[in-house]
Amino acid sequence: MKTLAIETSCDETSIAVIEDGRKILSNIISTQIETHKKFGGVVPEIASRMHVEVISQILKNALEDANIGLNDIDFISVTEGPGLVGALLVGMSFAKALSYSLDIPLIGVNHIKGHICANYISHKNLEPPFIALVISGGHTYLVDVTGYDEYKVIGRTRDDAVGEAFDKVARALGLPYPGGPMIDKLSKVGNPEAINFPRVYLEVNSYDFSFSGLKTAILNYLNQMKQKNETITIEDVAASFQMAVIDVLSEKTFRLLNETKRNKLAIAGGVAANSGIRDIFTKKALEKGIELFIPDMNLCTDNAAMIGSAGYYSYISGKKSTLGLKVDANLSL
Ligand code: KG4
Ligand code: ZN
Repeated sequence: MKTLAIETSCDETSIAVIEDGRKILSNIISTQIETHKKFGGVVPEIASRMHVEVISQILKNALEDANIGLNDIDFISVTEGPGLVGALLVGMSFAKALSYSLDIPLIGVNHIKGHICANYISHKNLEPPFIALVISGGHTYLVDVTGYDEYKVIGRTRDDAVGEAFDKVARALGLPYPGGPMIDKLSKVGNPEAINFPRVYLEVNSYDFSFSGLKTAILNYLNQMKQKNETITIEDVAASFQMAVIDVLSEKTFRLLNETKRNKLAIAGGVAANSGIRDIFTKKALEKGIELFIPDMNLCTDNAAMIGSAGYYSYISGKKSTLGLKVDANLSL
């Protein structure tokens, strides 16, 4: 069964053809990062316009790469939210037009479920139940994935998402958008124990997260150092920040694995590309006998292949959207 998947929730226009939820026949991603870099972050209006400009060509490339025609597609999967409303609307309108003209079903997909399902593509043996840690630019969730289309949220951020914290700290350090990959690179040569930034665990037993205090602590540190005319070693700030984030993420994730007695962990979202997170989670998982799944690098950040995988599992579980489907910028898991 083949789905044509469309993802336009933020600053990547992506269309993929996915077979039976796990096999990529094509996955074309056109990123707008270079344009938004000039503004230090994603400008929603520009994002929508750029999706409109390229989406038809991306469809052509995706079909060519998969070596199929539109008539070979069984159903359309499209991101319905969360994301930027104007950007989502471009993909949604395009998806509805295709579904209507080809007379094939339309399936609305939650972008966050898509990130989790990227693991099904990279790891053919992964099956629920498992614990998922979703760490992206806009979202942070600890989820008990009890079935292919069953998600139980256990914890979430109460303020900034992990990727957002990376991007804001990077900005304060004068690094270009998106800051996550830059912090990752600097951390490799910095000392993670140089500065003792706060680890916010919230209430005992809580699985929620809070990263805005950590971000503020770093801004205060940078201001104090500037006032005292002291040299700031940005590699050390980056490494110490990254370690504070990893400590909190790993404490809560492994505590949940222990409590639920699940023995599989899948990490998902753009920040899953972080090499420090990959290294430390790999080590801890090995120590604790947990099987760890992380998507291939190109499937961590936004792409349509993951939307096709989540769309497939929704479809076979009986979900079908109508042409009245609306985008939802704040759709939760
Ligand atoms: O999942 P994603 O592509 O978009 C959302 O759905 O939000 O995630 C983008 C986020 C950005 O905040 C970016 O800085 C972060 O992922 N990111 C990283 C790395 N690569 C991307 N953060 C830390 N280390 C990385 N290597
Ligand atoms: Zn995303």
